[in-house]
Amino acid sequence: MDIHTNIPLKNFTTMKLGGPARFMVDVRTTDELMTVYRNARSKNLPIFILGGGSNVIAKDEGFPGLVIRIRIPGFETINDDVSTTTIKVGAGESWDQTVKRTVDMRLTGMEALSMIPGTVGGAPVQNIGAYGQEVSETIASLEAYDSKTDAIVTLTNEQCKFSYRNSIFRSTETGRYIITSVTFKLYKSAPQPPFYDALQAYFDQHGITMFTQQIIRDAVIAIRSEKLPDPSTTPNTGSFFKNAIIEDWQLAELTTKYPDIKTYEMGDGRIKVPTGWLIEKVGLKGQLLHGIRVHDKNALVLINESASGYADLAAARDEIIGKVRDTFRIQIEQEPLEIG
Ligand code: EPU
Repeated sequence: MDIHTNIPLKNFTTMKLGGPARFMVDVRTTDELMTVYRNARSKNLPIFILGGGSNVIAKDEGFPGLVIRIRIPGFETINDDVSTTTIKVGAGESWDQTVKRTVDMRLTGMEALSMIPGTVGGAPVQNIGAYGQEVSETIASLEAYDSKTDAIVTLTNEQCKFSYRNSIFRSTETGRYIITSVTFKLYKSAPQPPFYDALQAYFDQHGITMFTQQIIRDAVIAIRSEKLPDPSTTPNTGSFFKNAIIEDWQLAELTTKYPDIKTYEMGDGRIKVPTGWLIEKVGLKGQLLHGIRVHDKNALVLINESASGYADLAAARDEIIGKVRDTFRIQIEQEPLEIG
């Protein structure tokens, strides 16, 4: 294991911002992970865990401690019955390559999550979701290094407390667990309608009436390629904001004022309001703020066009949050995590 020093985080995050990490190391096994973690802790170094860097923002001052990049490989079938297959995947595997492998195996459950950048270990942290699927629907359990008890533990789906773009890993237990592998239970039955609106619209437009995992994957890739900038060439972190969640009493006021607003029932009395719509409505879609472009095809996405640093991104973000709050009295939230 080589420990590198003074590594610019802008080269390891898709937003292409941020100063140096004091130390950075790649780990390929759980033993390596535990060794470096214990070592860093004994020296009182702050620790940050990095996967693909596609959902994190680094600051100009960098990170004064050790960044551990999880590179743990693995893909194995651990159970197979008439209707399901269970696979265990190393946290360092590419998320999209994992989806591709399951689609090639004709397994249903993660095909709509095609083309999401990042790693398998990053997926549960923010409970990635797209086109009607959330990763929490197929996670049976996961393994993690528990830094509190200094042991490898298995957490069940329930213990991860998944909700919209959230889990214990970025809320109540931030920094405690380092995910080393994820176990998914997938289905052998073909994908079934109803499909997410944008997906169904694509099928209608292309006269598609038969659905396989590969057909869904191809459609999602086509839609994403059209709507979302490629993080490998255009610096961005996908959705920069979460969709807003409001209580039902707030909805009446909103729909009276804005009859064309699109909202989604979450099934628990709360309502999801598309933040992309809110940002578009305040007139910021396509605008350039402090070197940050509000994407002209989806206002939820911010692109680092020419920001001189984190401060520019923060200024653009706060301007957007402020305008939405002043107009709608809705407080929108940043989605990517911040390093340090
Ligand atoms: N909308 C607008 N204007 C915009 C963007 C969206 O009016 O500029 C409206 C759309 O017309 C639609 C609704 O908002 O009625 C939802 O839009 P869309 O289906 O494009 O999805 P989204 O809410 O913008 C979410 C996820 C995406 C995911 C898509 C598809 C979040 C934070 N984002 O975006 O995830 O791909 O749904 O399922 O929930 C990500 O997290 O990085 C990400 C890309």
